[in-house]
Amino acid sequence: MPNHGTGHTSSDGGQQQTAGLAFLGCGYAADFYGATLPNYPQLTLKGASDIDGERARTFAGEFGGQAYQGLETVLADPEVTIVANLTPVSQHYAVTKAALLAGKHVYSEKPLAPTLEQATELVELAKERGLLLSSAPATVFSQSAQTLFKAVHDGLIGTPRLAHANLDMGALAFMPYTEWRSRRGVPWPYWDEVPNGCVMEHAGYQLSWLITMFGPVVRMAGHTALLLGHEWPELTEIAPDVSFGFLEFANGAVCRISIGWVAPADMTLTVVGDQGSLSVKDVWQASSPVLLQRRIKENGKTNGYLAEPQQLPFVTPPARHRYDDTHDLTVGAGIADMAQTILTGGQPFLSADFSLHILDVSLRLAEGRGITETVPLVHTDDIKLTRGQTTALGHRS
Ligand SMILES: NC(=O)c1ccc[n+]([C@@H]2O[C@H](COP(=O)([O-])OP(=O)(O)OC[C@H]3O[C@@H](n4cnc5c(N)ncnc54)[C@H](O)[C@@H]3O)[C@@H](O)[C@H]2O)c1
Repeated sequence: MPNHGTGHTSSDGGQQQTAGLAFLGCGYAADFYGATLPNYPQLTLKGASDIDGERARTFAGEFGGQAYQGLETVLADPEVTIVANLTPVSQHYAVTKAALLAGKHVYSEKPLAPTLEQATELVELAKERGLLLSSAPATVFSQSAQTLFKAVHDGLIGTPRLAHANLDMGALAFMPYTEWRSRRGVPWPYWDEVPNGCVMEHAGYQLSWLITMFGPVVRMAGHTALLLGHEWPELTEIAPDVSFGFLEFANGAVCRISIGWVAPADMTLTVVGDQGSLSVKDVWQASSPVLLQRRIKENGKTNGYLAEPQQLPFVTPPARHRYDDTHDLTVGAGIADMAQTILTGGQPFLSADFSLHILDVSLRLAEGRGITETVPLVHTDDIKLTRGQTTALGHRS
């Protein structure tokens, strides 16, 4: 078993070994972490740092630990074993690299880095130094995910063949996003999210589950479009707002994936096998029901072949501390898993290579890498754009 270093004995003098944790970046997402940290006794919060000192102070005031005077102070603290990088995406590479060079294990918010080259460099650096590096999301640890994975693994739907995965969060441009605030009142940073784009922000929520169930993506194509870019005239850079992908996995299963912020909200995941289907209504909710529909024999002129949905009992208990928000992302679970690895050995579930693969596939989707062919119109007179207009035919008696 690789040894990734030691944790610290808890300050109450008990036998429980814990790993010291510090947050870098105390913005909107930091409140998700702070509020749910008590779920994970293997973590001791040492404090937080932010280039905006007031944010570090309010974070420490609300959730504990000290407000560090800058990155160097955090990295110089021997009690800090794990650094959680919650800075904006543009800072991920520099902050993670500095932390690794200082000998800290790093858990990064997604994406691991803005480019594959940068992320690969970070993964290699971590490996060279015997350090752990993981990236969010950590929703694979949720009750729903664990229950779905076990059901697929146990063969409840036979061989899984196909998945339909959606991370359409609704039409962002038409939502009151300027009013969104975290518990401490930090505004939701749409000026970062919109240029980063729906894929880089959200693909990992579906990809991490799919890759866990089916293995790595081996072939794929992606297509993107920007439909509502004009709704953000103040932003100079805007990423595509819809993305469709076709993914083929190592086990032979295929997936149609849709990620965007134009269509009405749909965060479902459906896995179809020879013997039935499994579905989760909302992968952003840690306790979204997992429904099984077994294949049955029907008779007569029907397209039915599935039994009524049956809700599966969750295979893990619910988290005790939840953050009251529109979604429940199990954020601290990945850091806790990293801490467990540091304290007891082995590999974290969200390994560096797993995180790197998710970034690779996300980038391919975000860049719309796939074959798009122009369809030449040979008989333009016959196919007019007005073809969709109502015809009088249907009304004739
Ligand atoms: N906003 C969300 O709903 C959400 C949800 C899950 C994950 N995330 C992810 O969390 C990360 C942070 O997003 P956010 O929404 O909290 O952004 P944010 O802008 O609200 O917070 C980022 C914080 O980092 C600080 N910062 C910037 N550069 C820094 C540096 N070099 N060192 C230390 N601090 C620095 C900023 O002052 C700010 O307080 C991103 O990777 C994002 O993808 C966001």
